[in-house]
Amino acid sequence: MKKVKDSSVTIVQQMTQADANLAGNVHGGTIMKLIDNTGGIVAVRHVGTNVVTASIDRLDFHHPVFVGDLLKVYASINFTGKTSMEIGVRVEAENFITGVVRHTASAYLTYVALDQHGKPTQVPPVELVTEDEKRRYCEAQVRRKQRLLVASSSEVCST
Ligand SMILES: CC(C)(COP(=O)(O)OP(=O)(O)OC[C@H]1O[C@@H](n2cnc3c(N)ncnc32)[C@H](O)[C@@H]1OP(=O)(O)O)[C@@H](O)C(=O)NCCC(=O)NCCS
Repeated sequence: MKKVKDSSVTIVQQMTQADANLAGNVHGGTIMKLIDNTGGIVAVRHVGTNVVTASIDRLDFHHPVFVGDLLKVYASINFTGKTSMEIGVRVEAENFITGVVRHTASAYLTYVALDQHGKPTQVPPVELVTEDEKRRYCEAQVRRKQRLLVASSSEVCST
C-alpha cells in the first residue's frame, strides 16, 4: 500500500515566448504535454516501474495562459485498478506580478504499469487517508466505468 501524498507532485514552470502560439498566448499543446508529463511522474512514483498513458479524458481550457505566467501543475493519484491507475491533474496560471491565479484546466489520465517485458503489471493499491482522497477514489471509479464502456463501444463499431 502506498499513500497518495507519497507520489503527489507539483511542477511550477514560467511560460516563455517558446511556449507561445501565433496569437502570442501559450499553446494548448504545451499545457497538454505538461499535464501528461506531470501525471506520468506521479504514476511512476506510485508503481516504481515504467508506465504508458492509456487514455486522457476530456480536457477543457477555462482561461488563456499568457507568456510570463507561472504555470502550476498539481498531480496526484485518485484510483488504482489491477494494472492501471487514474491520476488527476489541476493546472493553474499565476500572474506573479499581480498575484492573480486562474484555474486553467483539469484532466484525468489513466496510466498502465509495465513490467520489464513491456506487459501490463500489477500496481500497488493506493491507501486513502483523507476524506478528499476517499471522494476522489469514488468519483474515479465512476469515470473508469464510463471510460471503459466508451472504449469497448468504439471497438464494436469499428470497421
Ligand atoms: C494501454 C495498454 C498497455 C493496454 O494494453 P491491453 O493489452 O489493452 O491491456 P489490458 O486489456 O490487460 O488492460 C490493462 C489495463 O489498462 C486499462 N485500459 C485499457 N485500455 C484503456 C483505455 N482506453 N482507457 C483506460 N484504461 C484502459 C484496462 O482497464 C486495464 O486496467 P486494470 O488492469 O486496472 O483493470 C496498450 O493499449 C498500449 O500499450 N497502448 C499504447 C500506449 C501508448 O503508447 N501511450 C502513449 C505514449 S506513452
